[in-house]
Amino acid sequence: MRIRTFDDYQQAYQQSVEDPEAFWAGVAQEFQWRKPWTKTLQWNFTEPNIKWFVGGKLNITENCLDRHLAERGDQPAIIWEPNDPHEAGVTLTYRMLHDQVCRMANVLKRNGVGKGDRVCVYMPMVPELAIAVLACARIGAIHSVVFGGFSAQSIADRINDAQCRLVITADGAYRGNKEIPLKSVVDDALIGCPSVEKVIVMTRTRTPVAMLKGRDVWMEQELKQVTADCPAEEMDAEDVLFILYTSGSTGKPKGVVHTCGGYMVYAAYTFENVFQYEPGQVHFCTADIGWITGHSYIVYGPLACGATSLLFEGVPTYPDAGRFWDIVDKHQVNILYTAPTAIRSLMGFGLDKVENHDLSSLKVLGSVGEPINAEAWHWYDDHIGKNRCPIVDTWWQTETGGMLISPIAGVTKTKPTYATLPLPGVQPMLVDENGQEIEGNGVSGNLCMKFPWPGILRTTWGDHERCRQTYFSTYPGLYFTGDGCLRDEDGYYRITGRVDDVLNVSGHRIGTAEVENAINMHTGVVESAVVGYPHDIKGQGIYAYVIADAMPSDHDADLTKRDILATVSRVIGPIAKPDKIQFVSGLPKTRSGKIMRRILRKIAEGDTSNLGDTTTLLDPAVVDEIKAGAV
Ligand code: PRX
Repeated sequence: MRIRTFDDYQQAYQQSVEDPEAFWAGVAQEFQWRKPWTKTLQWNFTEPNIKWFVGGKLNITENCLDRHLAERGDQPAIIWEPNDPHEAGVTLTYRMLHDQVCRMANVLKRNGVGKGDRVCVYMPMVPELAIAVLACARIGAIHSVVFGGFSAQSIADRINDAQCRLVITADGAYRGNKEIPLKSVVDDALIGCPSVEKVIVMTRTRTPVAMLKGRDVWMEQELKQVTADCPAEEMDAEDVLFILYTSGSTGKPKGVVHTCGGYMVYAAYTFENVFQYEPGQVHFCTADIGWITGHSYIVYGPLACGATSLLFEGVPTYPDAGRFWDIVDKHQVNILYTAPTAIRSLMGFGLDKVENHDLSSLKVLGSVGEPINAEAWHWYDDHIGKNRCPIVDTWWQTETGGMLISPIAGVTKTKPTYATLPLPGVQPMLVDENGQEIEGNGVSGNLCMKFPWPGILRTTWGDHERCRQTYFSTYPGLYFTGDGCLRDEDGYYRITGRVDDVLNVSGHRIGTAEVENAINMHTGVVESAVVGYPHDIKGQGIYAYVIADAMPSDHDADLTKRDILATVSRVIGPIAKPDKIQFVSGLPKTRSGKIMRRILRKIAEGDTSNLGDTTTLLDPAVVDEIKAGAV
């Protein structure tokens, strides 16, 4: 199954298209199943209804942990690097991780959690986060990890949507020189969350926290009450493994649902092949486990392959901008997987921070989360990989579970800014506005998939119709990614960015509608419109046009802007704060009341020369006013 050459890739690809069931059955056989599946794939993209490895029984933690004990029980599974480089880190071997996951699983059981129950995890990037996630999977509970940068309101929305029974959190989190009071944020959230019965609190920062009798328990004390004996729950391949909330163009974030069998097979297959992982190598994915990249390529993919996964608590610029390179040097990292935003921000600090570190252990570099510009690609290639490490620009989404379009390291010829070719099992299709396929090379269009792969989302939690509407109705019979894409003369794919109202800010996915709703909650705001604009480091910045009750005076405008930012932080979280706010007296709307975002985007981009046809606007004069006041 392992791809080693471009011929292997072509053969695998061909088989995966001609006989997908045989192809994926071959891959899946390499895992440990309690009971084999009876049908490899059942699907349609109309309902949609997608099932892989039908009737198969397994537990993903047996594959990520138990299976490795005999051969590599003493090999590091997780290397933890704390926020403060002077604090001692932690290395957990597979045996130690197995032991701790079983103990944590028993703690969950002791606190009333069983198969199918939902557990919200709001934690710092510490080993206990990976342990908590795996402990849920061990007993068949469904985890919903919420990134530590989200607000109480966002946590409450997610908890209520999934009706979580328990929350796992910590007193606080260290991020660079900041301390985030996680438990206190959870306490605020839980005021509106009647489904939550218990909260397990880990000690990290020793920040004083409120502990409510009957509801809140300390993780450390709970762990003393249990043994390390916890047989894994037998799960159906299609039982839900986790929910992960992600933003779309409308409404509140959706709970993307992934299931046990297909997700495991896909995360592991892509991890091993794309990075050309070799036994004993150290893999450092810099994402947070609060995002899909962390789920698939810090926890499940690497562990399912018996790899050593490095988990970093801090940020790339603390204590200084050499931190990543320090970690690579210290832990002899072989595979580094990070986001273009991080690369662009580190580029700005110059080469001094890079050159005093030994990066010779690096073999493969990865990029994920947003388009990587040529300048960042070359800097990564020249100064980090020293032109001897292949760069894999991996394109995928929360909904896809794993990478879909990506080079295979050292196998696929790379081209800066291109995600290159579809991985085996992935059948991309470009379509025009009317849903017509755009064939041939040297073309661009909207990126769709015409056939399922094992890691595709199965539904959105509690609202299957929303899943159908969002992904499967724009182009009937196809999965629509929301991305625009170019296929060049060589048949190579280059993702050009979202074609819907979703922003990608520093690799974080944010819906414009979500930000607008948050701004509109601020007192005195009548209406707002949010668009993205190119940002040198973040990729995209957030530009908000705001209509206030009364146009604020110059003096008040600054204060009001800061109040709006505080409101957005409170409602969503600091990651959604607009970079620019412009007060306007009106928005460019068509006679039917639709905001013409095209115009607002152009103005935000600073390109006011050609705004296109504005004659259909209700009040074309408003455009001149907005142009004149652009910030
Ligand atoms: O627009 C694409 C962009 O990120 C979106 C998915 O965001 P999310 O679900 O948060 O997952 C991010 C990590 C997998 C996509 O629709 N994106 C992701 N990877 C790339 C990318 N854009 C260009 N190139 C990439 N390599």
